[in-house]
Amino acid sequence: MSEFLIIAHRGASGRWPENTLLAFSKALEYGVEWLELDIHLSADGELVVIHDFTLERTTDGCGQVSDYPLAELRLFDAGMGEKIPLLAEVLDLAAGRATVNIELKGAGTGAALGLFLQQRFAGQQCVDKLLASSLNGDELINLSTILPYLPLAVVAERADEQLWRLADDLGAWSVNLDKCCIDEALRAVATQHGKRLLAFTVNDDRQLQQLQRWGVDGAFTDFPERFVAK
Ligand code: G3P
Ligand code: MG
Repeated sequence: MSEFLIIAHRGASGRWPENTLLAFSKALEYGVEWLELDIHLSADGELVVIHDFTLERTTDGCGQVSDYPLAELRLFDAGMGEKIPLLAEVLDLAAGRATVNIELKGAGTGAALGLFLQQRFAGQQCVDKLLASSLNGDELINLSTILPYLPLAVVAERADEQLWRLADDLGAWSVNLDKCCIDEALRAVATQHGKRLLAFTVNDDRQLQQLQRWGVDGAFTDFPERFVAK
């Protein structure tokens, strides 16, 4: 059986402010080999790392992320004095240390990520340490049009025909599903489609062990420190 992936969901976000450089550094310190983050576009077209479309829940700002230019977003406190990071900063931190799952959240992030990675890697196929995912099929399609070789994951809260069709059409590397809709039968369906299956968000020991018994390939967790072997 291949290794079960422990993926730090928004960094080590159970103990540290989610989607910040602090949360990602802590996850790496704990020995995590996979980080997950969420991206949006600032008003001036920069890729920033934050989960929600709005600022209120995780920062001291208010309103839509996409209404602010980067310089203004950087003034907000994202917890413990941390700033909202740029995607580039997290990739720099993780380089050579972890694979990064970039989840496309904001409108336009698919095409923007494609162009960003094209520039960053200057046309080289240095994408083996990246996985791009989204609930939004259009963002994934836009991304794959620009970077056809980038590994993709379809995110879903339930497994239906549409999900498997999109995953097949995209040649997705994995399907990232809410743990509530995963069982042994679903594992078998994923296998029939030739897809890895990753579960979110799993913070409980027994739940994680159950997923492992069913042959699930990995889990997103807010507490990677509980599950990684040091
Ligand atoms: O991709 C797994 C998980 O991050 C999806 O849910 O809302 O935490 O981004 P969310
Ligand atoms: Mg996410």
